Amino acid sequence: MSLMASPSAQATTTVAGIGGPFSGQASSLVLRIKELEEQHLAFRNSLVCAFNQLLDLKDISTGVHSTRLAEWALRVARKQNIPEECLYQVEVAALLHDVGKIGVPDAILKKTSALTPEERAIINRHPEYSWAILRLFPGLEEASLYALHHHESVDGSGYPAGLRGSDIPLASRIISVIDAYDAMVSNRCYRKGLPHAEAIRRLLASSGTQFDPEIVHTFIPIAEQEAAEVFAAAGTSATAAL
Ligand SMILES: [Fe+2]
Repeated sequence: MSLMASPSAQATTTVAGIGGPFSGQASSLVLRIKELEEQHLAFRNSLVCAFNQLLDLKDISTGVHSTRLAEWALRVARKQNIPEECLYQVEVAALLHDVGKIGVPDAILKKTSALTPEERAIINRHPEYSWAILRLFPGLEEASLYALHHHESVDGSGYPAGLRGSDIPLASRIISVIDAYDAMVSNRCYRKGLPHAEAIRRLLASSGTQFDPEIVHTFIPIAEQEAAEVFAAAGTSATAAL
């Protein structure tokens, strides 16, 4: 997990223009502020890593390692010209967008038979739970919004808000595509992962309804490039039968 430095880490002020008898004091004050900023960022990154571990322990993370999911999100985000200073929030959201599943009972989350409408409604609350958790992390307000909207569909049929098209945050549209691909190719206790080609076919089939077509087309070459590694990590094969 890279967890790149967030903008505030790069925003340390300088003492340019301050001179005279106070310049020494000002320098040590700036150094102290920088030190506190670094401590704050290290603490926040530790929290993010701890919650990521919690997802692993609860077996909520999907088959492909969450670090890879975050890497894909960053690659797509860069191709979509999301500014570098905004990528930290994208990375954290890619890692922790499903953290709210902790609030869904295991009996529902891991049910292998069909869900009742009531159970489906409970599972569909998880983006709101993720938002409620992430918004409490200092400085992760953006990431919490990306997590809140990661199950929206571009045709407005998603949840929780039924947002459409570009009203859905770009980072949420990115997470939606890569998370769906990851879920499709990963093995579950009740089914084998889909072959890469079938997962891509389904992404394309839902392009323009569930998924943002531009994000799908940006992601496909990345998925193609890494297919072999992905399938090795997911414990399935790129040519596995349906
Ligand atoms: Fe989710």
